[in-house]
Amino acid sequence: MNVVAKSTNLSPFLKSATTVISSGIQPVSGTGFVLPAAKIVTKPGVDRKVIQSLQESLITGSLRVSSGLGVSLQTGQRRLAHTDVKWPDFSDYRQDSVQDPTSRSRDNAGNRKAFAYVLSAATGVSCVYTAKAVVQSAVSALSATADVLAMAKIEVKLNAIPEGKSAVFKWRGKPLFIRHRTEKEIAKEGAVDVAALRDPQTDLERVKDPKWLVVLGVCTHLGCVPIANAGDFGGYFCPCHGSHYDASGRIRKGPAPLNLEVPDYEFIGDDMVVVG
Ligand code: FES
Repeated sequence: MNVVAKSTNLSPFLKSATTVISSGIQPVSGTGFVLPAAKIVTKPGVDRKVIQSLQESLITGSLRVSSGLGVSLQTGQRRLAHTDVKWPDFSDYRQDSVQDPTSRSRDNAGNRKAFAYVLSAATGVSCVYTAKAVVQSAVSALSATADVLAMAKIEVKLNAIPEGKSAVFKWRGKPLFIRHRTEKEIAKEGAVDVAALRDPQTDLERVKDPKWLVVLGVCTHLGCVPIANAGDFGGYFCPCHGSHYDASGRIRKGPAPLNLEVPDYEFIGDDMVVVG
C-alpha cells in the first residue's frame, strides 16, 4: 500500500504514518498484510501507540487521506462521511407531489408551480387589501367629521317664508338670507341700470328663480349683519357704517365695496332649496 501526500500542509502525524508504512509489507498466506515491527520509525514527540493505531486503520481501510491539486485536504475515518448524522424528517412540511425522493422534478413541476402561483396570488390580494385599509383609515382620519359634513349643507322649506319677507338661517357659522321677493321687487331690480352700479351685476345673474334671493348676510365692508327690508333701496341696510343694498343684494350706497355674496344652492322641487 502506498500513500502519497503531495501537499505540504499535511499534518505531522500523517508524515509519521507514511513513514511507518513502508514497502516492506509482505503478503502472508495470500490473504493479508503484515508490517515488520522492526521497521516502525518514530519521530521525537510522536506516540508509538498512535502510530500503531493509524497503521492498523490504513490497513483495514477505515482511514482515508485525500489530497491533490484542486482537491481539498481531508483526513479521517468513516465518520467523516456523515452517514451517522440524524437528519430531521420534513415530510410533514413537503408537498405530496414531492414526497417520493425518486420522482423526477419535471413530473411534478406543474403542481408545484400551481401551488406557488396560488400562494403568490393569495399573498398579493392580502397585501393589497391591507394597504387599502391602511390608506382608507389614514384618509378618513384627515377628512371632515360627520358633524362638520352635516353642517356643510342646509335644507330650507320655502313655503314657510311668506312673500315679501326675508328669513335668516345659520349656515356654516354665518347668517344666510333667503328672501321671497314680490313681483314689484322683481320688476324693480330687473330695471336697474347695471352701468351705474359699484359692483355691476344684473338681477338675473344673482338669482336662479326671480322669486327667491339667496345671499349671505355678511356686509362686504367689515362683516356686520345687515338688517332686512331697510335702507334707501328697500333691500338690506348695514347699520355699522351705513351701507345700503337693494332687493337683489347689490351694494347701492355706503362704504361696502361689493354685493352680498351668493352661495351655491339648488332647488329641490318647488318648495325646497339646498344651500351648500
Ligand atoms: S360693516 Fe357694514 S357698512 Fe361697515
